[in-house]
Amino acid sequence: MNGTLYGLIRKLEQTRSLTRTEYEYLITHRSQEAADTLAQKAVSARRRIYGNAVYVRGLIEISNICKNDCLYCGIRRSNRRCERYRLDAGQILSCCMEGYALGFRTFVLQGGEDGFFTDEILCGIIRSIKERHPDCAVTLSLGERKPLSYQRLFDAGADRYLLRHETADRSHYHRLHPPDMSFTRRMECLRSLRETGYQTGCGFLVGSPYQTAETLAMDLKFVETFRPDMCGIGPFIPHNDTPFRDMPAGDTELTCYLLSILRLIHPPVLLPATTALGTLDPDGREKGILAGANVVMPNLSPPSVRKKYELYNNKLCTGDESAQAKEHLAQRMKSIGYEIVTERGDAKTGNNKIR
Ligand code: 5AD
Repeated sequence: MNGTLYGLIRKLEQTRSLTRTEYEYLITHRSQEAADTLAQKAVSARRRIYGNAVYVRGLIEISNICKNDCLYCGIRRSNRRCERYRLDAGQILSCCMEGYALGFRTFVLQGGEDGFFTDEILCGIIRSIKERHPDCAVTLSLGERKPLSYQRLFDAGADRYLLRHETADRSHYHRLHPPDMSFTRRMECLRSLRETGYQTGCGFLVGSPYQTAETLAMDLKFVETFRPDMCGIGPFIPHNDTPFRDMPAGDTELTCYLLSILRLIHPPVLLPATTALGTLDPDGREKGILAGANVVMPNLSPPSVRKKYELYNNKLCTGDESAQAKEHLAQRMKSIGYEIVTERGDAKTGNNKIR
């Protein structure tokens, strides 16, 4: 490893901050040795805060109906071949019931931007989950909504919100999204979520079309300044029924490299080893954890709808990706020295508003 690269890694470790050009250098000059060094530093930074705990979240995909037309996404509005579904409150509550019995203490309600889920309907669902499982956290991942809507859902008991920014480069954002989607609005949503009091998660795609080391450096700089509680990153994987069908997928090594950098930028951040990482590489989740991630989100959706929530080709939803396989997942994590815990697993970022 050259001296400049090593110097940057040391600087990152000590100051938690690099310039955009320095991040760019770290990305373009990466080597196996640099990756190993970063991973080792990331793992010890995480161990100081979270020990060897890996948090699990039960992911419930409540609807694949979406008004947006993101060019990379398999459930985009104009994909006529996507078979649409929506879960009702009863189905969502039974997923939680099953998840609770399996040891999940966080439920993530994720879905497309489906107009059916008004504030009133969602607030009812959130209240019922919280009534039945007061010791559990509810995370929402339902896209862009109005500040008042975020406030109502928070008041109903939602604890966390995930909204990936997808890319922090405005012009890159517009190459991944149709003209009616706005970079400014997305960033405003993230700020609004934070102000409302949610533990807030942003995140970006790795290897999305037109991405460069420069756009990735902007993502890292954004995370450095925004200081999210969670940050979800995963490789882009093409979906056949989207305009990006012929674009190459992102790669596991770069994703892991970025996970290590993110851990060093903001040590208490919750970082999932995502389903996309597990889909691209059979050992993806373990590699993610060994690079500095500390969260896994097995699928708790009713098996009958799982295949329909196809964001990208061959998305894993059975096997170890399913919540029912939690024990097997626990064994695999144990084999690399980690322990899956039955806890809410809140972020230790110090941002959380007291209710
Ligand atoms: N490949 C990888 N991730 C994708 N997502 C959407 N489409 C794809 C794809 N083709 C991610 C987006 C979104 C999250 C729910 O899934 O980043 O925020």
